[in-house]
Amino acid sequence: MKFKGQSIISIRDMEKEALLKIIETADAVKRGGHKGCLEGKVVSTAFFEPSTRTRFSFASATQYMGGKVIGFAGTASTSVTKGESLVDTIKTISGYCDVIVIRHPVEGAARLASEAATVPVINAGDGANQHPTQTFLDLFTMSERFRDLSKIRVGFLGDLKYGRTVHSLAYALALFRAPMVFIAPEILSMPGYLLEEIREMGSETRQFEALCDIDVSLDVLYVTRIQKERFGDMQEYERVAGTYRVTPETVRALTEGVRIMHPLPRVDEIDVEVDAMENAIYFEQAHNGIPVRQAILGLVMGTIS
Ligand code: CP
Repeated sequence: MKFKGQSIISIRDMEKEALLKIIETADAVKRGGHKGCLEGKVVSTAFFEPSTRTRFSFASATQYMGGKVIGFAGTASTSVTKGESLVDTIKTISGYCDVIVIRHPVEGAARLASEAATVPVINAGDGANQHPTQTFLDLFTMSERFRDLSKIRVGFLGDLKYGRTVHSLAYALALFRAPMVFIAPEILSMPGYLLEEIREMGSETRQFEALCDIDVSLDVLYVTRIQKERFGDMQEYERVAGTYRVTPETVRALTEGVRIMHPLPRVDEIDVEVDAMENAIYFEQAHNGIPVRQAILGLVMGTIS
């Protein structure tokens, strides 16, 4: 895959080799390579939806590499409040920067933005659809622990219906034909089309309604928050809220050495006491957002090849 000048919208646009290139580049960056590769570059962060990790790590990644950041977090101070369309906003911002990082609540908004922009657009999350750079850092974090991504078995726990990080990561792991386990109450289960697609790509999959039911070993348990903001019916949310919680006892009952990951933010699905366990790598995972986003920014701007 050619990265220079390309937008990063969906894992579905990518091949395994491109994912391996990002992991390899992030590793080089983490070891101190490609310093100053964003000097003279301006990154615009257009966040129409709340974020801590993604926005801060893109900003931090840019500045550590010598670039500058402009942008907004929430549209209150922008002309969106006067009725300006997404397309006009993006066309305008395109003239002020070298790359646009966008988060938007509407599925497909990042794709639309990339069609309107004259600079590469990076999808930082569009509704319940995709969050590709989260997937890059998830894969990078796994690759630091497990050499061969095709051999690991990841169990996904939580909101598999609305969780865009799950949708992106499961598809990416299917490119490696990795086996996967999906654990969720029925109304939060993986969308059928995605499950079918993953199976057709060659991944062995299993589904369970509760963590205590699983009868296979796991290398990684990938926990997700219930995406309250995406429920149309709050009564439906109340029915599933708090139905799973990972505690030190839960972790001890799983495969020895299992790594606990979470894209964060968490609400109450992982007990804070798990944080001190060696199994917990979710804050390390969040911090890997820096080298991974440095790698992707350098690749799309052509300062890393
Ligand atoms: N993981 C993630 O996307 O976190 P934020 O919503 O804080 O950016």
